[in-house]
Amino acid sequence: IPGQKVVLITGCSSGIGLRMAVMLAKDEQKRYHVIATMRDLKRKDKLVEAAGDAYGKTLSLAVLDVCNDESVKQCFDGIKDRHVDVLINNAGIGLVGPIESIPIEEMKKVFETNFFGVIRMIKEVMPDMKKRKGGHIIVVSSVMGLQGVVFNDVYAASKFAMEGFCESLAVQLLKFNVTLSLIEPGPVRTEFETKMIEEVKQKECPGADPDTVHYFKNVYLPSSIDIFETLGQTPDDIARVSSHAKVIEASRPRFRNLTNPLYTPIVALKYADETGGLSVHAFYHMLFNLGPLMHISMTVMKYLTCGCLRSRTTTSYLGLKTASKR
Ligand SMILES: NC(=O)c1ccc[n+]([C@@H]2O[C@H](COP(=O)([O-])OP(=O)(O)OC[C@H]3O[C@@H](n4cnc5c(N)ncnc54)[C@H](OP(=O)(O)O)[C@@H]3O)[C@@H](O)[C@H]2O)c1
Repeated sequence: IPGQKVVLITGCSSGIGLRMAVMLAKDEQKRYHVIATMRDLKRKDKLVEAAGDAYGKTLSLAVLDVCNDESVKQCFDGIKDRHVDVLINNAGIGLVGPIESIPIEEMKKVFETNFFGVIRMIKEVMPDMKKRKGGHIIVVSSVMGLQGVVFNDVYAASKFAMEGFCESLAVQLLKFNVTLSLIEPGPVRTEFETKMIEEVKQKECPGADPDTVHYFKNVYLPSSIDIFETLGQTPDDIARVSSHAKVIEASRPRFRNLTNPLYTPIVALKYADETGGLSVHAFYHMLFNLGPLMHISMTVMKYLTCGCLRSRTTTSYLGLKTASKR
């Protein structure tokens, strides 16, 4: 339909990608045609069901594996004039655990998906967007793209890499009137978390010493589960921030978009002390000294907030403003 924007989203079989696809396809003004992609169409049922009437109208499905050149090319060849107005890079995988027990090959898979997968997509749409002097590229990064988190070393590194890549490219793209935006969610309750916990339970952590395995399984993991349960947002919260006036619909979308205001102070901490000591020690303290206390306070918070924190999606930019002043 003329005037409708073509939005291509990666990783729509579950979680954030699925909810973004549905929310945009169900836009009351029908401003978007969503091409919801996934690497395995056998996993389409949840999306199709959630899309309801929009399926086949404002939402169509396509196969796309971000790790595969041929698959990406084929998907674009199937799009009319290969025209995409908004590309949302959402597909991503997590990885937690002591690095001693993770083979390099597995680490590479994380970079293949979270880093090179995004670049592969951007390379495919960029020439056309530059030529047209318009377009919007959105990357789902993470708070862990701004602040490293213990035992998430490789995942955080892949998101940091993405942040650096985007920060560099955004400047050039602006010259061509192409916008680049990052979405930085904190914990989100999706299959991501479930997959992680299931994997960890089975992990023997070969190669890691008993102390490290203890810190991972008995200190880090319970506090991580607490954090997900207490501070975790829903995929809908993230979709709302992304499709909100601030990002997709904005005339001048922001470059960085933290979705959870509770993480703003953490980012601020990092930029408040350029030696890095403040954040390293704060995290050390939180995990190893305040661990049990944190468990209690998280439990209290869970009851006190009754979920109202979860629905808050206001974005605050205190930390990032501090950063840009430096
Ligand atoms: N959940 C969180 O706490 C959280 C926090 C911050 C940022 N994020 C980011 O949010 C994004 C979405 O994650 P989510 O939480 O919605 O997790 P999810 O429910 O596990 O969804 C991830 C999606 O990515 C897809 N995917 C994985 N590898 C792919 C590939 N090679 N090609 C195409 N698709 C692929 C998965 O497809 P399959 O079904 O085929 O596996 C799935 O649809 C990720 O980039 C993640 O890093 C998540």
